[in-house]
Amino acid sequence: MPRDYKVWMIATLKGGVGKTKSAMFLAQELANRGEHVMIADADPGTQGVTDWVTRLLRDYPHYDMPWDVQQWSPKYGGLLVQWLDQAVRQTGARRVVLDLGAEMADVVATAAILADQIVIPVGTHQDELARLEPTWRAVKPNARAGICGVLLTRVDAVGKGAASDVRRVLAHDAYHTYETEIPRSRAAYDRFGLPIEQTGAYAALTDELLKREEY
Ligand SMILES: Nc1ncnc2c1ncn2[C@@H]1O[C@H](COP(=O)(O)OP(=O)(O)OP(=O)(O)O)[C@@H](O)[C@H]1O
Ligand SMILES: [Mg+2]
Repeated sequence: MPRDYKVWMIATLKGGVGKTKSAMFLAQELANRGEHVMIADADPGTQGVTDWVTRLLRDYPHYDMPWDVQQWSPKYGGLLVQWLDQAVRQTGARRVVLDLGAEMADVVATAAILADQIVIPVGTHQDELARLEPTWRAVKPNARAGICGVLLTRVDAVGKGAASDVRRVLAHDAYHTYETEIPRSRAAYDRFGLPIEQTGAYAALTDELLKREEY
């Protein structure tokens, strides 16, 4: 049976780069546009999406969640790709945003088979950029052509300074980089346990991803 849902996969083989934030804000933006979205939280053990929702519903028991969340762990046994189909069917979602763990290169590689778009969040510091190559290596062999891109996150000045330098290097190394950059802003993005509602720069990123989906 052909798949009747789209998967946006978020993955970098490095912790703390903004994967979970990106997954939640993209899901929120799609939900704001009327889409039925499910986040597949495949990164248990970090302060991830499931923890965030648990906290939110504890503090705001009547909050009407704008998107669904389902959690997967390698510990459950079985493959993510098989689980995903079932989880999506349970929720009836038409869009999935997949938040993957930083240590799971093999899971990242197999998940790439399912992805309609792949977002690789990374900051402008060298230790984060150094993890791009291994991430790309895990994802590329299984991903359809033209669906991968690097997302510059937590940048101090959008389009300037370090962000523009890094963008030049990435272009030289033939990485596709999304036009949208996510500014560093604790106030906007550090909302653990709170409703998101405002999605900031992730609205522009959503436009970019939807546009790429058309090709
Ligand atoms: N645009 C931003 N501006 C400021 N802080 C941010 C931004 N995006 C994420 N952060 C902060 O950076 C930290 C890491 O973000 P996040 O949890 O999304 O990364 P992650 O890649 O999912 O990390 P992990 O590998 O631990 O799962 C968090 O404290 C988060 O609040
Ligand atoms: Mg995370």
